[in-house]
Amino acid sequence: MVSIALDGPAGAGKSTIAKGLAKKLGFIYVDTGALYRAVGLKFLKLGYNTELNCEIEPVLKDTKVDIRFTNGEQHVFLDGVDVNDKIRTSEVSMMASAVSAKPAVREYLLNMQRLLAEKNNVLMDGRDIGTVVLPGATLKFFVTASAEERARRRVLDLKAVGEDADYEKVLEDIKTRDYNDSHREIAPLKPASDAVIYDTTGNTLEQSVDELFEKINQGLKQ
Ligand code: DC
Repeated sequence: MVSIALDGPAGAGKSTIAKGLAKKLGFIYVDTGALYRAVGLKFLKLGYNTELNCEIEPVLKDTKVDIRFTNGEQHVFLDGVDVNDKIRTSEVSMMASAVSAKPAVREYLLNMQRLLAEKNNVLMDGRDIGTVVLPGATLKFFVTASAEERARRRVLDLKAVGEDADYEKVLEDIKTRDYNDSHREIAPLKPASDAVIYDTTGNTLEQSVDELFEKINQGLKQ
């Protein structure tokens, strides 16, 4: 099976790029952030905040996260319920970042991600795919963009789901999440030593998809 790791910070355009690429390649697109978001949603539903002043394992024991594909589109289920339309809010983003720093949560989601790559040709998007989840991935990319550009894109995304977004607040949240994601002890956000760094600042979506598609095709020929 071919596996392509696409890591990078929040808002670099990974998921939109990955969707476009997966379609062109005929691969399954796995958005691993959605898994952390589903776990974050569970803790929110239980009434916890990002300080997570609780035992993590007992909650995970009582939590079922599933991933299913309908017409090639990923749906994440939390305790049997499709939560795709509940996991894109700012509140869930901050909670996903908080739970993702917990080793028990990363361990809990690891096998599911590896199994998907064993059974399918995948384009997997996340933070630690090239470094931890699939260290033997066929190709690895680290997709990034300036924090300001990522904040501008995020404001548009939030507006699309009906959230009134303030640019300065979004920028601050992005910087906080970048800091949290890259400074946590376990699986911090960083490029794998053999990853190709790709900066999307100033690119249109089509440009990024086309250029990465080219790089992937070249990489797969080697
Ligand atoms: O990609 P995203 O914004 O949907 O991810 C939500 C959070 O989950 C993000 O703050 C970092 C975390 N995450 C992670 O730690 N490892 C992954 N493979 C994917 C996401």
